[in-house]
Amino acid sequence: MQVTSCITGYHDAMSRVIPVIPLTDTFQRPLRDLRISVTDRCNFRCTYCMPREIFGPDHVFLPRSQLLDFDEITRFARIAVENGVRKIRLTGGEPLLRKNIETLVGMLAALRTPDGEPIDLTLTTNGTLLGKKAHALKQAGLNRVTVSLDALDETIFANMSDSGVSVKTVLASIDQAAQAGLTPVKVNMVVRKGINDHQILPMARYFRGTGHILRFIEYMDVGDSNGWNFDEVVTGAQIIDTVASEFSLEPRDPDYRGQVAKAWRYTDGQGEIGVITSVSQPFCGDCTRLRLSPEGRLFTCLFASSGHDIRDMLRADLPDQEVLGRLASVWGARTDRYSEHRGEQTEDGTRKKIEMSYIGG
Ligand code: GTP
Ligand code: 5AD
Ligand code: SF4
Ligand code: SF4
Repeated sequence: MQVTSCITGYHDAMSRVIPVIPLTDTFQRPLRDLRISVTDRCNFRCTYCMPREIFGPDHVFLPRSQLLDFDEITRFARIAVENGVRKIRLTGGEPLLRKNIETLVGMLAALRTPDGEPIDLTLTTNGTLLGKKAHALKQAGLNRVTVSLDALDETIFANMSDSGVSVKTVLASIDQAAQAGLTPVKVNMVVRKGINDHQILPMARYFRGTGHILRFIEYMDVGDSNGWNFDEVVTGAQIIDTVASEFSLEPRDPDYRGQVAKAWRYTDGQGEIGVITSVSQPFCGDCTRLRLSPEGRLFTCLFASSGHDIRDMLRADLPDQEVLGRLASVWGARTDRYSEHRGEQTEDGTRKKIEMSYIGG
């Protein structure tokens, strides 16, 4: 059946209008964000994400034939956008390692909501290839980027990213992204106690007044590879206290319900910072995020063990309504609130969790 979208809903082949019904989960959380992981590969081996002992030369990554192609990704994204999604984030692994990623950006940028509005299209990257690609990505329709950077100190950065890439390369990429208009550029710093927490103030000083938004992320127990321990978490409150020891800050209202980062602004007008408190103050109650894996599985939580295959339907070219039916049933059955129950859970190590490098941040 041919289904096309219009302002009030969809027209099917008989020109009947099928109204858009917002997809909500078991806690009435709507579907708003789609995070698309385009590859499970990365050129970094961050110790908290892809430790080299586990992701070494013998590690088997997904073969190309298993990956969703750009038409498959775009078709699924279009159906999601026709049914509530307003923001799409491309992620990985490192999404800029995916060949011709700007082609996919162009295809996604052309999507329109049922009201005819463009979506917010963004990408999370480690910044190594961004300098080269920033202009092409902007030309293709990318709105903005988030760049990961855990330290300004070269030795700490080298230890954390285990990559041989210089901090200077990432900083230059951030500037090139801003010059290309991929703004506001957000910078993500994962804070680990005793490893890079003394970089909080140098990072705040560096990015203050630049227009870039630095966000501090509490170290999380994602995946099964990083040997996470609560003792290594520096809480958002501690991070804010540290920055406030040098600069006057005040909290800022969220831009939208369910915003992941809590924003604080410098009272002298020199910009803002954010803290992502998934461990100390979870935000599952407003979680509107669906994740699509590189080979076409839907995950309703960053801490899920298993996903729901959608690739079979896309490869069989089943009608939109059937794909939407699966999306609606996956989202409708969603009960995830992992971070809110973290303290109560007795993880015995037998429940496997997906890796961040596979599903993205
Ligand atoms: P924008 O406001 O659109 O820039 O995005 P965002 O605030 O959602 O930021 P981003 O996507 O960069 O997410 C920042 C980090 O927050 C991620 O890298 C994760 O570490 C964490 N995060 C994002 N979404 C979730 C989530 O659903 N659950 C948990 N526990 N952490 C999340
Ligand atoms: N805890 C918190 N953030 C993490 N990221 C990767 N692994 C973790 C973790 N265990 C961050 C990366 C990047 C984003 C995609 O997620 O540093 O900024
Ligand atoms: Fe580091 Fe991101 Fe690569 Fe993970 S996916 S190893 S966090 S750069
Ligand atoms: Fe959403 Fe799961 Fe993160 Fe909670 S832990 S905010 S449900 S992704």
